[in-house]
Amino acid sequence: MAYPEGMPAATADAPEYTAEVARRTAHVFKGAKNAISDREWPFIAGDVDTILRLKAARNAVVLAHNYQTRDIYHCISDITGDSLALARAATQVEADVIVVCGVHFMAETAKILNPEKTVLIPDPEAGCSLAESITAADVRALRAKHPGIPVVTYVNTSAEVKAESDACCTSANARQVVEAIAAKHGTDDCILIPDEYLAKNVAAETHVGIITFPGRCEVHERFTADQVRRVRQAHPIAAIIAHPECPPEVIEEADFSGSTQGMATYIETKKPEEAVLITECSMSSNLAAEHPDTNFVRSCHLCPHMQKITLEKVSNSLLTMGHEVTVDEAVAERARAAIQEMLDIV
Ligand code: 13P
Ligand code: SF4
Repeated sequence: MAYPEGMPAATADAPEYTAEVARRTAHVFKGAKNAISDREWPFIAGDVDTILRLKAARNAVVLAHNYQTRDIYHCISDITGDSLALARAATQVEADVIVVCGVHFMAETAKILNPEKTVLIPDPEAGCSLAESITAADVRALRAKHPGIPVVTYVNTSAEVKAESDACCTSANARQVVEAIAAKHGTDDCILIPDEYLAKNVAAETHVGIITFPGRCEVHERFTADQVRRVRQAHPIAAIIAHPECPPEVIEEADFSGSTQGMATYIETKKPEEAVLITECSMSSNLAAEHPDTNFVRSCHLCPHMQKITLEKVSNSLLTMGHEVTVDEAVAERARAAIQEMLDIV
């Protein structure tokens, strides 16, 4: 595809922070003033400027997950949210090109829901330990072992795994989807894969019997109940909020558990004086900028996959239309049905 007119031919060198760049990006800097400091801005503005111009030239939108770094989240994204919000947004965008600032399964979901649009991921190596933990053959084996039991698959999976499922779910709706699917199939049990901890956390809240699989999030499995107790001792007034990919003992110690958007809504509505988010660290940075009255105590684990997405890679992606995400249409059709089943339930 041709380079858009007037754009640099390569982004090997970061674009300079000229007076013109400063003028063109002033509105972005103003909007991101709690997230990006005066000192940081000159190093970011050139790439932001290039990306804004490329987005206009390509008729592109940027969907960014809540775990993206401050520059991406606050300066270049059009839509931010959790996996569910990004999947929903993907069904509504009008643009020709969708750039997913997140991990590969999120871009695949966007493509499955928008087969006619171009979906780009700035770094195709941005994977996910949960998505990598399970294959389509594993799902078929589970079905053979538990005949008649429906399969609900976490969206943190490949298109092939989704295609083997009755429905998808996210951390925002896992319990509701499991209950709806078990009721639809007339079963007492449901297979919920591949996150063992999410499945155990859902099992603690529902009457449906849960069968699972030993997948783990490499970020959330590192939190321990002991750490949470120590944080509580050190910060007795803090609201402790944990992602449901954490081990059940961690969830038990927390005041609230929810998807990344659920966490954001908790902060928005409860306005705690102090908060600890037991999740990926960038989330606290992004929320801290939006809620300056809440003091965020950082318990920092970064997702190495989410961190692979950088401003420079987004710029290159839009410039070269690189790392287009494709999904075999026969697989996509079945995966789409599983995702749609979820979207119809919640
Ligand atoms: P959310 O759907 O809660 O944003 O979670 C996605 C994810 O990858 C968490 O690790
Ligand atoms: Fe996957 Fe965990 Fe990273 Fe989320 S935080 S993308 S579940 S590895």
